Amino acid sequence: MYSKKRIAVLISGRGSNLKSLIAACKDPSYPAEIEVVISNNPDAGGLDIARHERIHTHVIDHQPFGNDRKAHERQIDATLQAHNVSTVCLAGYMRLLTPFLISNWKGKMLNIHPSLLPLFPGLHTHRKALKAGMKVHGCTVHLVTEEVDAGPILGQAVIPILPNDTEETLADRLLEQEHLLYPRVLKNFIEQESPNPTIDALING
Ligand code: GRF
Repeated sequence: MYSKKRIAVLISGRGSNLKSLIAACKDPSYPAEIEVVISNNPDAGGLDIARHERIHTHVIDHQPFGNDRKAHERQIDATLQAHNVSTVCLAGYMRLLTPFLISNWKGKMLNIHPSLLPLFPGLHTHRKALKAGMKVHGCTVHLVTEEVDAGPILGQAVIPILPNDTEETLADRLLEQEHLLYPRVLKNFIEQESPNPTIDALING
């Protein structure tokens, strides 16, 4: 028996990866629970998913902060601290982060990226994979470091690229794998990071 780690999920959009993490966390044996969901986009569909599950949500819109990215991140950081989370999962969070937030959560912030990193960092990954003539494509969960989409790789899933694939069909098939990969990698990450056995587990081995 392990106590659950409190995690935060940062989103900007529809939130399908958030949904897969929520589903995983419902298993009593899963080592994490989602304490808070933060979106920089007030219209993110993922907010409704979280609200429906009665998870705390915070909209921290970047627009009023203009170019002051750090001020925006200070508010995000304060919210993460207030919720006492141990791990932050970026799941379709579409803002580039500054060294301020990245260094505060060093080794504790994960991201999912829709390519086999280090191939195709940045946007339009499905288009880039097709254009490069790749026969396989995939997704990566990695630790967030200052260089975009370049932190240590924690896990990857691979799919074939089929002859008639378009950006859309590829994205759809890959998304199914993202939904399996992120919960699995998060579980491994948490369990290796700190097993934190309860007294029961210690007594019963
Ligand atoms: C996913 O493809 C993820 O890999 C990328 O952004 C997309 C987010 O989708 N970082 P969703 O909001 O989780 O549905």
